[in-house]
Amino acid sequence: MCGIVGYIGERKAQDILLKGLKRLEYRGYDSAGVAVLNRHKISIVKRQGKLSVLSTELSGRPLAGTLGIGHTRWATHGAPSHKNAHPHRDCKGKIAVVHNGIIENYLELKKNLKKKGHKFLSETDTEILSHLVEEHYKGNLEEAVRRTVKMVKGSYAIAVIHEDEPYRIVGARCDSPLIVGLGKGENFLASDVPAILDYTHDVIYLDNHDIVTLTRGGVSVKDLSGRNMRKSPSRIKWDISQAEKAGYKHFMLKEIFEQGDVLRNMLEERIDKGRVVFNELEIPSKVFRSLKNIMIVACGTAYHAGLTGKYIIEECARIPCHVDTSSEFRYRDPVLDKNTLVVIVSQSGETADSLAALREAKRRGCKTLGICNVLGSSIAREADGVIYTHAGPEIAVASTKAYTAQLAIFYLIAIYLASLRKALTASGITSLIKEFGKCALLMNELLGEYKSEYNALAAYAQEFKRYYHAKHNKSYFLYLARNINYPNALEGALKLKEISYISAEGYPAGEMKHGPIALIDENPWVVCIATQAKTHDKMLSNMQEIKARGGIVIAMVTEGDKEIMHHNVNYVIEIPPVRELFSPLLTVIPLQLLAYYVALEFGYDIDQPRNLAKSVTVE
Ligand code: AGP
Repeated sequence: MCGIVGYIGERKAQDILLKGLKRLEYRGYDSAGVAVLNRHKISIVKRQGKLSVLSTELSGRPLAGTLGIGHTRWATHGAPSHKNAHPHRDCKGKIAVVHNGIIENYLELKKNLKKKGHKFLSETDTEILSHLVEEHYKGNLEEAVRRTVKMVKGSYAIAVIHEDEPYRIVGARCDSPLIVGLGKGENFLASDVPAILDYTHDVIYLDNHDIVTLTRGGVSVKDLSGRNMRKSPSRIKWDISQAEKAGYKHFMLKEIFEQGDVLRNMLEERIDKGRVVFNELEIPSKVFRSLKNIMIVACGTAYHAGLTGKYIIEECARIPCHVDTSSEFRYRDPVLDKNTLVVIVSQSGETADSLAALREAKRRGCKTLGICNVLGSSIAREADGVIYTHAGPEIAVASTKAYTAQLAIFYLIAIYLASLRKALTASGITSLIKEFGKCALLMNELLGEYKSEYNALAAYAQEFKRYYHAKHNKSYFLYLARNINYPNALEGALKLKEISYISAEGYPAGEMKHGPIALIDENPWVVCIATQAKTHDKMLSNMQEIKARGGIVIAMVTEGDKEIMHHNVNYVIEIPPVRELFSPLLTVIPLQLLAYYVALEFGYDIDQPRNLAKSVTVE
């Protein structure tokens, strides 16, 4: 939610800021702006709309200067507009601030600042920061920022520059990510690693309440009382090419097609001599041996992975699991104790509600485990233990490869627990590992079928668009499944609605008769996941009931399913045969692609859907 970049060095700041913002645009894209300091003068250019609007503006009148800060916004306080875009200035126009987060006590602070004569130009919470820095500035920007952040409540990652100190950028963080990139004769500040990977692989992950000062020659980090903090840099192992489209039309498509490799790499990394290994996990195995139940907490797609995780862990390791959305968990009074393991699933590791849920679980004395994709993220650092999904950077707002990587980690956790607690025999464990290994191959095989632009799912999407218009835009999607594939029905619906803005709901198919069947007429397209032998007949009955009421049925079945031919469904999607427990790894692929092709047909901005941002760092 909002991306920040800062640069100080010898190169043209504007170019580095724009390139960095481009890589952070997934964090917000309703307006963007830069402030560049040159000869004791700060110039600010900002524009409503995507970064491209700002870039076009700046290409016509580039800003000179080798120090600057930039921002791409996802609006919280104040509509997306030119005046609310960052950077924000103080009254004298000597200070510029960019901010990611929410200042919760901004109204009270604004009132006091107004009494002191400060004039505000925007509706944002951020603008109070530039005025507070102005108020506290007595010739030392770092000190003024320290005093400022001591007064604010809420979350922030900020970068501040001042015309009177044209040789430094000051940053600070609390509950919003901020990293420092270490260069030679130049240094960088950013919300996330991709922004700086063109220039350096050495980063410092800032912690809450750190105040950082960047000059050309160095970086110093202090705490709120001004004490020097020692920070060891981390080396980023992945390359910037992983954060580029590599010939694909969209990041989402590229990330969908990367899923087979993500699974294969996971197998290579996590399976050793027939055992599951989690090298980075700092929780001792005795904790896993003695735990009585597991609480999985997450948001959005990660929550759906958690729902599937429950089926997997309960089936393999026989440990009771509960699953909750982070925003609900944190405000209820869950029954937890020291024998509960709370698992927080988060691609970004920065989702505000998930982070708050993690802290709540720790406060209640539970052991906590993060399943994260972003290295060094807040959840990864604050949890008692972390297992990384190592899916590589996920840039598209709609999560795909992070989801399958989270599912895969749940299979591995379940196998790990089953073997530690002897819930399965040695041969049972071996056969699970073997089947899991097979999935990576099957996933690539399945993806192979959709490699060409003119594949069956693309054709279904075209048909849907025609139908949608013929039905005067009243068509929508339902996703039905049972058992372990039910969370994928939710995930399929989420994918479709977030990128195509078409109404879509996921239901456990057995619930249809308890209400949702009332919706069925000739408008809905109903995707029915019927790949599991156990519930196959029941799903066929569901399809009949939908067809009888005029609905359009897309049946997802296992290759070789002959029965489906007798059921007069409208479209069929086949997945390769795999043990039922592992089927979610495959059934989700066509759902992701179908959502992608529908959005493509309707001509929407697939990687940056409206109103969304990749990591939701505010409540
Ligand atoms: C999924 O496509 C989303 N855009 C969203 O639901 C996401 O999964 C959710 O915000 C959780 O994010 P996290 O995994 O980074 O915590």
